[in-house]
Formats: sequence, structure tokens, C-alpha cells
Amino acid sequence: MTAFLDRRRFLAHCAAAAGALALPVPRLATGAAAPGGETVLDVAPGAVQLADDGGPPLPVFAYNGTSPGPVLRYRVGDSAVIRVRNRLDRPTTVHWHGLRVPNAMDGVPGLTQDPIPPGGEFLYAFPLRLPGTYWYHPHFQSAEQLDRGLSGAIVVEDGAGPEVDRDLLWVIDDWRLDRAGNVHESFGNLHDASHAGRLGNVPSINGRIPEPLAVRAGERIRLRLVNVANARVFALAFEGHAPTVIALDGHAVTPHAPANGRVVLGPSMRVDLVLDCAGAPGSVHAVSDAAYPRTPFTLTDIRYADEPALPPRPPLEPMAPPALAEPDLARAERHALLLEGGAMGGLREGVLAGERLGIRELARRGKVWAFNGIVAEGHAVAPWLRLATGTSHVIEVENRTAFPHPLHLHGHPVRIVSRDGVASPYPIWRDSVLIGPRERVELAFVADNPGRWMIHCHIPEHQEAGMMGVVEVG
Ligand code: C2O
Ligand code: CU
Repeated sequence: MTAFLDRRRFLAHCAAAAGALALPVPRLATGAAAPGGETVLDVAPGAVQLADDGGPPLPVFAYNGTSPGPVLRYRVGDSAVIRVRNRLDRPTTVHWHGLRVPNAMDGVPGLTQDPIPPGGEFLYAFPLRLPGTYWYHPHFQSAEQLDRGLSGAIVVEDGAGPEVDRDLLWVIDDWRLDRAGNVHESFGNLHDASHAGRLGNVPSINGRIPEPLAVRAGERIRLRLVNVANARVFALAFEGHAPTVIALDGHAVTPHAPANGRVVLGPSMRVDLVLDCAGAPGSVHAVSDAAYPRTPFTLTDIRYADEPALPPRPPLEPMAPPALAEPDLARAERHALLLEGGAMGGLREGVLAGERLGIRELARRGKVWAFNGIVAEGHAVAPWLRLATGTSHVIEVENRTAFPHPLHLHGHPVRIVSRDGVASPYPIWRDSVLIGPRERVELAFVADNPGRWMIHCHIPEHQEAGMMGVVEVG
């Protein structure tokens, strides 16, 4: 497919106009809802300017005319009331990723609601009970609609975070553009589906080819990272800095340095960092990526003003742990989930809509992945698990494939108990868990949100090629 080299060529193309300027990363528009008021999200074709290169804008799908869409900001205890109006030529839905919404508000077509038809609308309403960084995106034709630009961040505040000079949000995306600079039309191809998914060739932050982050020495910044890319994993190093991870997928975690100095974000994941700007006035530092060892690149730079440094900040206090029911590990029911398939995966056969098919026939139908031997067709598949409300569960996931998969459970954040038999050093709650090739991970949760919930790989090309199931609670 598109080589990563194209990105350099693309960047060179716009370097003259954009690359030399030290502009701040753009601030995103905020959804204009009064607390308790209704927010309208219009889903429609739009166009964005990824760079000020004088080139034509990039045609996208947009929420309220922008990609990413407006940041929806709430306080814990607020109710979100969001009217989604579909102005696309195809159905859509909106899923509120990571939020514990009532099942009917979850935005999964065929499972929790009918798709919103062109010209139609849907009123989503749900309470916000947990603080954190979340996001929203379609769950209809996800691979294409997400990659055409439909995503947006959600920030829920409780006023209790660390004291910082600035609270910044980076919605990080990865576009696959063709030579003319348009979204590549290579949707639905079996190569993406059976390999790493739809990797792109042009990264962006907040809908722009990244511009340097302008800082002042001594500043303390909370940086909320959201990976809205279909398939790209990011592994970011903030050179010359020692960021502290304070929240994962919205949920507070014991403040810690990222493993190996790299902040890893698989598709759909969020990481909140505290970045103490320890560089010297006038200095420049790269934010570099090394998720794919053969194609490292610099995402952006941190550029220091010449002003003298601000005084040093006090050590970070841990934030309150998330208000989530603690699973009873001793009594939990245990369930095995085997991830199989894909290129170099050795899957021989799978059951698709009740029919046992060989891999060739599956591939002919665009299906190449399985959960416990079952290949999902659409969203309304028969439940894999039926769990009684209030009971504790451990899912033992084994990734028997050659690719990492960000496994996402709807409606219930999960606690990572162990990875390859090694217990988590502190409680880690997430809604998406990146599971490496051959890795085994134990995930625990209390089934306390009734309804039918998806569990799936958050690389939509994988999900659509069979990697999903349903967990029914209640
Ligand atoms: Cu981000 Cu099934 O969702
Ligand atoms: Cu996957």
C-alpha cells in the first residue's frame, strides 16, 4: 500500500509554508452547550486544511464542519444531551468511547439502535459520572467513516486534577492520502484487513500537520493524548523531558514514568501526561515516534521561548482512583478469549453465521479473524458471554496472531490483572488494552452495566473482518 515515504514527500511539499513557523498547536472548537443544554452534532461532508500550504482543502466527513469534531466538555454530574443529525449520504451512529453510558445510548447499529439514516437524527442522552479524557466516533461502517475524519474528544472534569499552567489536548490522527492529497479510496481491501489495518502516511494533531508546541521553561502542562487513528500505534518519546503518566483511558493511575520512556497509544487509547518543561529557554526538543522500528519519525517539536524559567513545581499528588466496582478476583468467573487469524496467523477455519468455513472461503468473504473460532458478521452477533448483573469476571485473552490488537470492551472499563503472568504493579483501569503478538493478558471487571455490549479489536479493519463479539449483561 502507500509507503511511509510519501509522508516525507508530502511534508516537503508543505514545508515551505508551514514547517518553518512556530505556531502553537491549534485549539479545537468546543461544543457549544450550556451545562444541561442540548448540543447539536451535524455529521456531514466537509473540508479541512491540514496545512497552510495554499493547497486545496482536504474533503472529509466532519462533525459540525470540523475534523476532529468539537471537543465536548462536561463536569462530573452533568448530563450530556446530544442531537446527532445525519447529513451524510449513508447511515451513521455515534459511539461515546469509554463512557459508561446506558446500553441504548451506546451507538452500535443493529445491537443498541438502528443506524441513523441520511436525513435522520438521534438524541443521545446520558449522565457523566467519571472524570477523564474520552472520545466519540461512528460505529457504522467504522473503518471508512472514522478514517474520513469522524472523531472528536470528550473531556469530563471534576476539578480535582493536578495544578497545571495549561491543560492541552492532542487528538492524534494518521491519514492515508493519495498523491493528489485526498483521502485514499483504498477502503475495504483484504491486505489492510489481514495485516496491521489501514496505516496512513500523514499524521496530524488536532486536524493539522503537527506544528511545534510552544512552551515556556518551567511550565507544567497536562497533556491529554487521544489516538483516533484507525490502525497506527504511537510510541512517543518527549526528548529531553520526563513526562509522568497520570491517567489511562481517562482513569487515574499511580503517577509513573512510561515504560522505556515511550508513551504507547494503540488505536482508541488515551494517555494523560503531566509534562514539566525542563528544557532551557530557547531550546528545541523532538517528540519522536518509534512504534514501528523501521519507520521512526518526528511527530512534532517542543520549542522553548527565550523567557527565563518559571520556578520549579511541587511533586505530583496521585489523583483519586476511579469510582469503579472492584472485581472479586477470588470468586470471579473465568473466561478464555483466543484471538486468531490474519496474515501469518495460521487460522485454518472459522464459524461464520453458524457455518464452518475454511480460511480461503472466509477470506473470499473478507473475513480473516476469529474470537474463539467464531468469525463475526455485522454487529448483532449471538452473545459470546451472558453475565449476571453484579458478578465478577476475568477474561484471559491470548493473542495467537502476528499483530498487536487494541481490545475494547464497551460499557465496562476493565482492570488489567496481569500480562504474561506478571501482575500489574498498581491498579490499571482501561477500556482498550493493547495486546501484543503471542501475549496473554488477564482482564477483570464487574458486570454492572446491563445490556448487550461489543467486545472487539479497535482496528476497524480487523473488527469488520471478524474480530468482535458480544457480552450480554443482565
Ligand atoms: Cu471506540 Cu466499539 O469503539
Ligand atoms: Cu486487531
